[in-house]
Formats: sequence, structure tokens, C-alpha cells
Amino acid sequence: MILYVIVPLCTLFTITQQVTSADKCVCELTNTEQAFPQDKLSTVEDNALKCNSEVTDQKTLELESLLLGLDRRLPQLQEDVSLLEMEDDGELYGVLSLQVIENEMKDIRQLIDKLNSTTLGHQHLTITTAKKLEDLKAEMKELEKYDTMQVVKRQEANQRLKRDLDQCRNGLHPIIQPTQPQHSNCPHGVFVNITGPRVYTAGEFPGSYKYGAWGRDPKPETGKESWYWLVMMTSSNRYSNYVRLYSSLSSLIVGVSIPGNVQIHPTNPTTNTIQGPNVVLYSGALYYNCYNQDAICQFNLTSKTITNLQLPKGTRFNSKGNFCHLDECYPFTDLDLATDESGVWVIYTTTQDFGNLVLSKVEEGEDLMLGQTWHTSVYKLGVTNTFMACGVLYATRYINKEMEEIFYLLDTVTGVENFNVGIFIKKMSPNIYALNYSPVDQELHAYCDSYMVSYKVLFE
Ligand SMILES: *[C@@H]1O[C@H](CO)[C@@H](O)[C@H](O)[C@H]1NC(C)=O
Ligand SMILES: *[C@@H]1O[C@H](CO)[C@@H](O)[C@H](O)[C@H]1NC(C)=O
Ligand SMILES: *[C@@H]1O[C@H](CO)[C@@H](O)[C@H](O)[C@H]1NC(C)=O
Repeated sequence: MILYVIVPLCTLFTITQQVTSADKCVCELTNTEQAFPQDKLSTVEDNALKCNSEVTDQKTLELESLLLGLDRRLPQLQEDVSLLEMEDDGELYGVLSLQVIENEMKDIRQLIDKLNSTTLGHQHLTITTAKKLEDLKAEMKELEKYDTMQVVKRQEANQRLKRDLDQCRNGLHPIIQPTQPQHSNCPHGVFVNITGPRVYTAGEFPGSYKYGAWGRDPKPETGKESWYWLVMMTSSNRYSNYVRLYSSLSSLIVGVSIPGNVQIHPTNPTTNTIQGPNVVLYSGALYYNCYNQDAICQFNLTSKTITNLQLPKGTRFNSKGNFCHLDECYPFTDLDLATDESGVWVIYTTTQDFGNLVLSKVEEGEDLMLGQTWHTSVYKLGVTNTFMACGVLYATRYINKEMEEIFYLLDTVTGVENFNVGIFIKKMSPNIYALNYSPVDQELHAYCDSYMVSYKVLFE
């Protein structure tokens, strides 16, 4: 009887074995732990990413630029009001001064409105972001519970140890700073570094013109001390035929051009109009590469006259000697005009210099003339831009989308070149098409992919 039962059981067993086949094996895993909530982690990651994209450097810069605008505007207003008070003859106020002040008040009102809306936006962002961060923190704490193997905790401990070790090493071998002065002839001292972006604005035509230049006249006519100029390559990203003027930095930021445009010629381009973005305004005249010529044009904004200065034979022009980096050359950047404490300079290259940078002083007196010339050993195709400060030529190169490096200098007093300057420019857009130094406020003005950005030069 017992045997009778066993036999059918055995057959049943063998049958099951045959069905599941010999090389298949089923395992049952009993996990005493809870399953890791992968979906929860990805939600946290997504939220963190969103947070990062909402809070950017540009947000604070926008605010800083507006504040800076206001900061410069208010003392001007105060000055004008006290002028008005002096003109007060007891009964009648100077009508003209009153108008000036009215205009200023209007500008300031606009700035304040913009500041108000920006601040409100930021407040809202701060509140929502703080809330989001709290949530993220709580969720991460929750997730840490799943770290039963203590992996995260140990990693954190390792990182702390590594940091301590690095600090210890650096403490033992402090970085030795070179002590020799870079050059000799600067009222402010030695150029040591630049700040992060101080002004960052899309201006009046956001995103419309990729190439251009902006800045201040280092030797302005009386009454135009606070003016700013803007030249945009309005035709094919290469040519322009006018200068746009703003009565102050805040007007430029808000986009109110009171003096308006000064036109070189109604046609764009034509003989003696602007070719390429690296232009400068000096002493009420615009200096630039004349259209389709190996020459500098000096356009007097007051008399509207143009003077030409022919460059040496062999000078590369019409986009044959451009600024470049590995991925791109900047079209029609053959001639770079620059200003510094001593006036106007031109940086270019020639066939006889095998494409190396050449620097010449532009003597802007009675007759426009080319002054002393320096031949450098830096190849222009590896340079993205140049500027002059205190008689020293500086050249930049492209590091990546966020960084540009001032890597080279030539001191015109000593003739010494240095390929290891190592000052970094934090960019707001990948490409700097125009870069110029303003000796009036020691700022570098950059025009980058239609944005206007400025940096303060730090001397020591
Ligand atoms: C700022 O904007 C808010 C909302 O639009 C408004 O109520 C407030 O009066 C404004 N403040 C100033 C100083 O303009
Ligand atoms: C130069 O300035 C930048 C930021 O403004 C700073 O990060 C950097 O450490 C400075 N470099 C030196 C050598 O002081
Ligand atoms: C521009 O023209 C005005 C008027 O003729 C003159 O007074 C001024 O000196 C000129 N400026 C330059 C830089 O040549």
C-alpha cells in the first residue's frame, strides 16, 4: 500500500523534472530589505536639475547691472539739481536745466521699474527655490535609509580625508608667485587680474546683431563724459554704417538712445563705411577698418568727415588675417583698433610677418599717421582678440565656452614678450568678437554674441 503510493509520487517527480528541463533552474530570493525606489531618485535628480537651470549667474548679474546703472545715475542727478539751485534767480528756474532733470528722472524711473520687476521675480524665485531645496533635502534623507552598506557615508568620509590631505600638501608647498614686475609705465600699477562680469546686458536689440562693439570714449568732448557708444554689424554680420550713442550706462542697459545714431553714409556697405567689429571711439571720432580697404578710417562724429590711413603693403584684409580659435575664425577681424591711456592703436598682421601680430601706434593729431610699430612672435590665427592697457598689448585665446585666457603680452616700453600671462576671463557667451580697454574707468568692454559685457581690470 505504501509502495503503491510512493511509485506514483516518483513518476510525478520525474515528469516535473522533464518539463522544467535539466539546465533551467529556478531560485527564489527572499529579500529582507525594501526595494530601492529608483523612480524616486530620478524624480529627485530631475528636480535638482530644474532648480539649477532656474537659478543662474545671469539672474544676479542682471540685478547688478541695473544697480550699477542706478548708482551712476543718482550722483549725476544730484549734481544737476544743485546746478539748478544755483541757477535759481529767486523766481524763475533755468528751463533748460529743468528739462535735463526731467529727462534724467524719466530714465531713473525706468530703471527703478525694471529693478522692481526684476526684484519681484527674484523674490518669487527665491521662495520657490528654497521650498524645493527643503523638499529635495528631505527626499535625499529618506533615500539615504537605503544605504544599508554605508557606501555613501564612507565615500563622504573618504572625500573629507582627501581634502584634508590636499590642504596639508598645499600647506607644505605654497605656490611661489613671480615677483618681477610685468611692465613699467602704468599710473595704476601692474595689471594683475580682472573681476567677473560687472555689466551684462542684451541692450536695446536683444539677440539681433551677433557682431559689434561698445564702450566709452576715453577722451570725450565736454558734456559727453558719461556717454557710451555702440556699433553693430547690421549688414551680413560684417558691415555697419552708423554709431549709436547713449547718454549713460543706464540708458544703454534700458535701451533708450537719446542722442541716437550718427550715420557715416546712408548705404551699407560702401566706400569708407565700417567693416568688421573691432572699432573704437576716441576723442569724438570713430576708428575702424574701412570697407574693402587695407586702411583705417577715422570718422569725425561732429564734422562727419572721414580721414583714411593707409596700412603698410602686405597688410592682410578682407577676412584674410582673422582672429581664430580651433573651431571658428571671426570674419572680418583683420584690423583690431584699440585705445589705452596713450591714445589709439591698431593690431593687424602682414604677409611679411608670416601671420604674426603687428602692433602700430596711430598718431591721431593734425594728420592721421602710423607711428612706431612692433613685430611680435605670436601667431594671429591662435589669438581670439587683443587689447591695449598702459602701453602693453594683451592677447586672448579661447579655452572653452565659459573661459577665455589673456595668455600673452608685449610691453612696448621694454619690448619684452610674455606667453604665460594666465589671466582668465569668465565669459557669458562663447565668443568675444570685440574686446577693448577703457582707460577712463579701467574696464574691459566685450561684445559677445550680441551681449555687452564689462569687466573691471585689477591693478596692483
Ligand atoms: C513694484 O511693483 C509692484 C507690483 O507691480 C507695485 O505694486 C509696486 O508699487 C511697485 N513699486 C515701485 C516702487 O514701483
Ligand atoms: C582672478 O580673479 C578671479 C575672479 O575674479 C579669481 O577667481 C582668481 O583666483 C584671481 N586670480 C588671481 C591670480 O588672483
Ligand atoms: C572733429 O571736427 C571738429 C569740427 O570740425 C573739430 O573741432 C575736431 O577737432 C575734430 N576731431 C578730431 C578728432 O579730429
